[in-house]
Amino acid sequence: MKSTAAANANIALVKYWGKRDSRLILPQNSSISMTCDGLTTKTTVEFSEKYGKDTVLINDEELVKDERDILGHIERIRSMAGIKEKAKVISESNFPVAAGLASSASGFAALTLAAATAAGLKLSEKELTILSRQGSGSSCRSIPEGFVEWHKGIAADGSDSYAESIAGKNHWHDFSMIACIVSEAKKKVSSRAGMAQTVATSPYYDGWLRTVDEDLRKIREGILNKDFSLVGITAEQNCLKMHALMMTTRPSIIYWIPATLEIIHHVQAWREEGIECYFTIDGGPQVKVMCLEKDEKELNKRLLDLEGVKKTVLCKPGDGAQLIGEHLF
Ligand code: DP6
Repeated sequence: MKSTAAANANIALVKYWGKRDSRLILPQNSSISMTCDGLTTKTTVEFSEKYGKDTVLINDEELVKDERDILGHIERIRSMAGIKEKAKVISESNFPVAAGLASSASGFAALTLAAATAAGLKLSEKELTILSRQGSGSSCRSIPEGFVEWHKGIAADGSDSYAESIAGKNHWHDFSMIACIVSEAKKKVSSRAGMAQTVATSPYYDGWLRTVDEDLRKIREGILNKDFSLVGITAEQNCLKMHALMMTTRPSIIYWIPATLEIIHHVQAWREEGIECYFTIDGGPQVKVMCLEKDEKELNKRLLDLEGVKKTVLCKPGDGAQLIGEHLF
């Protein structure tokens, strides 16, 4: 009853921002992301009678304040499998947690696959995405490989709200994402709280919902045709629309710091100069720069030269969640 899984973070090209059901984690809109090979979480789960309670260790720190309800997710899996044993969980990510680099996505995806397997459940990829979604929405997009769409679904029980790959990891190797880390501080407002506040108070939320289907169509088309300009322009616009929602909620949420803006302005200037690149930003200050492989080296050098950039991680379309033989304990 012990399993280990590895899952990559995913970066959304069309964002998920707002729920229609917060208990089942059902989104207001569909979203599309890229599973990123450089941002990985590994998680080992063991269910055993020798454990008196569930314990979770994330990057060597014991979980005390369970803000993401990780214990609730373990309990969900335990009750699905009809087992009683408590769990020991050890999880390690190779990038900063909780600062807008989608650590909860890779974390919940790895936890879901490892725990479901350790508990003896035999689930299809689609069923795993539905299960992972209930832990953290965006994590369902870290189960499949490459470019992934999370279908919002319409059923009240969430049975049609799942994620699937729309293009595998080898479809578009030329597509690069440079994740720029500008701060390792934990963010003040979680995505969960931020999106609930947005749906409730942003005057522009209807406008978001009205235009998101068009963005989804363009991103799907751009990925399938490997049309970098179409994907880049649409993803950048979609990100700015999401941040406009965040900024116009009450109280307003501004995840950007000066280094975030520094990168935005440089990306736009480099583009004018002829190096095609675009940015996207999630619930935190980090900026992810999209470019083609031929420009990756030069852009990475320029990004690292900026004062506010502490570190970069180069990402390509990556694997979905996988079981691995090497346990963390
Ligand atoms: C800005 O998936 O972390 O990264 O479902 O409440 O756990 P919960 O939220 P979460 O939100 C991610 C929001 C985002 C956009 C995205 O990844 O699509």
